[in-house]
Amino acid sequence: MRIIKSIGQMREFSKVARLENKTIGFVPTMGALHDGHLSLIRSARRENDFVVVSIFVNPIQFGPKEDFRKYPCPFKKDASLCRKAGVDIIFHPKPNDMYGPDYKTYVEVMDLDKYLCGRLRPGHFRGVATVVGKLFNIVMPDTAYFGQKDAQQARIITKMAEDLNMSVKIKIMPIVREKDGLALSSRNIHLNQDERQDAAILFQALNLAKVLIKNGQLNPGKIIRQMRNLINTKKTASVQYISIADLKDLKPVKRIKGKVIVALAVFIGKTRLIDNIIVNRKLGNVP
Ligand code: PAJ
Repeated sequence: MRIIKSIGQMREFSKVARLENKTIGFVPTMGALHDGHLSLIRSARRENDFVVVSIFVNPIQFGPKEDFRKYPCPFKKDASLCRKAGVDIIFHPKPNDMYGPDYKTYVEVMDLDKYLCGRLRPGHFRGVATVVGKLFNIVMPDTAYFGQKDAQQARIITKMAEDLNMSVKIKIMPIVREKDGLALSSRNIHLNQDERQDAAILFQALNLAKVLIKNGQLNPGKIIRQMRNLINTKKTASVQYISIADLKDLKPVKRIKGKVIVALAVFIGKTRLIDNIIVNRKLGNVP
């Protein structure tokens, strides 16, 4: 496994691989790797000749009051996990190389950032789309792997790749969870013991929505009210939003029909957690 820091060297590697007709699977991350990231890496490993993982805590996707400085950076541990998972290249660029002092260009995927997390984190998805666009241009992957955990991000990147005619195939992989249903996240390490127990309420609330929908409740407002009541039974929990939305445009639906995404953001203590499930009214949840 090689660790490449220079943008030029990364491009060189990819150019040679492409000339040799080798496929590149790419997993963009901000590090602090866990089994969620590793599941993406394993899929990339199975399906490609080369696997590139980027580790870059992207400053432009954090708001002024967000946890950029607090974001964990256990690079050595991450490198060892990547090595064990059969990664070929870790791309670990420097912030100043990605965004020079005269940096001017941003990618904005219109409308899809109006709902869910986008409404509460202005500029976040512009930062995500911009860095992912840049990384695609540098790494030139055949396939890039993203998690359904960040459903809005996955949708926005899929749309960006489609709209900008990027030649990369986007694959969205299922959410990896702890035994009690808590979705794996780099932020879970901030939870103390009580908070960690309470955090399972996110998944329980999503499952409540699934059961209600399967039993014929098609009114999103009524479902959201019951989810909110359930979450409020936990002392450390405070709901930021719950939304039942269309899979494509992410707009809240007025009435449930076909497939919808049920998504939420909840503060457990000071830690903001997000989760979601896709529910098909007829079939129950779709992984
Ligand atoms: P990061 O939070 O490190 O996540 C990297 C990838 O891992 C994302 O595609 C995310 O959806 C996926 N992931 C995280 N937790 C997961 C889980 N429990 N199960 C399955 N997949 C999971 O998302 C980012 O970084 C950044 O925004 C990035 C795309 C790298 C741009 O900076």
